[in-house]
Amino acid sequence: MDSLNGRTAVITGAASGIGLELAHRFGREGMNLVLADVEAPALDTASAALSDAGYPVESMVVDVRELEAIQALEALARERFTNVHVLCNNAGVGGGGSVADLDNLELWKWVIDIDLWGVIYGCKAFLPAMIEHGEPCHVVNTASMAGLGSTPGMGAYSVAKYGVVALSETLSMEMSQDAPQVGVSVLCPAFVRTAIADSGRNLPDDLKTQVEERMANASPEQAAMSDFISALVEGGISTEIVADAVHDAVMNNNFWILTHDDSRPHVLGRAKSIVEGINPKIGFASNN
Ligand SMILES: NC(=O)c1ccc[n+]([C@@H]2O[C@H](COP(=O)([O-])OP(=O)(O)OC[C@H]3O[C@@H](n4cnc5c(N)ncnc54)[C@H](O)[C@@H]3O)[C@@H](O)[C@H]2O)c1
Repeated sequence: MDSLNGRTAVITGAASGIGLELAHRFGREGMNLVLADVEAPALDTASAALSDAGYPVESMVVDVRELEAIQALEALARERFTNVHVLCNNAGVGGGGSVADLDNLELWKWVIDIDLWGVIYGCKAFLPAMIEHGEPCHVVNTASMAGLGSTPGMGAYSVAKYGVVALSETLSMEMSQDAPQVGVSVLCPAFVRTAIADSGRNLPDDLKTQVEERMANASPEQAAMSDFISALVEGGISTEIVADAVHDAVMNNNFWILTHDDSRPHVLGRAKSIVEGINPKIGFASNN
């Protein structure tokens, strides 16, 4: 895109972390902002701060697991600002557990419903009008390095994020053929300092009780893994670095947004293993 000034960005998961930083970044570029999040108080605080900074802001409490809610968001965006130019399907949660311990299917479903179906619903609700209006625009789907490589214990999350990568690659090819004014990017960060390790705050009440019980009965290894992930998130890069990378990708129509240089060898290593027929190995590190 040549300029963002006066154009409109829609961001899901905008009340915290990467989504909130994207809102500030795009606000500084002169964009109208449409913010969505499931956490109402945090969304109110974020909207107020962005309004106080002088940006035109609209917000809506949306659970991205619900197509109708995302369609209502799309209608709100169009009603207030007409055309949408940047869509960030960013809302997401961590968690999900191991594949060998699939007794908590509801938790898997919760993660995949948000992290993958939320992105699918975002595309379904917003793409038709974005294609139709014909102005330059861009879709940014938030995946993860967990969408480019797997890690024990992160089954549901990786399944969802691989899905987001596949969806985004497919969409990018389709748009380059049918609607080249619509750019597509997939954001694949490793660890970023956000509230993601506390994703359980957004669990529905019945699932929250189950998860708390599981945590109380967690093996020392599971508890250590959870602490390890929290520490990696805490030691992650800043959201500003991620927002700058997203801005750069939108302006230059770059598909891949890899924010961590030290994770590139993992991608290469995995590709090499595939073509050389080497079985998966555990390679979890701070740059996963
Ligand atoms: N932080 C990291 O290390 C990291 C790494 C790779 C990818 N990501 C991805 O970045 C995205 C943003 O996460 P973050 O790290 O900023 O975490 P975060 O917890 O700070 O922000 C996520 C936001 O999504 C919202 N959300 C959760 N469920 C929702 C739902 N059902 N509907 C609408 N909104 C919902 C939360 O309320 C929160 O405001 C996620 O997709 C995440 O998977 C994060």
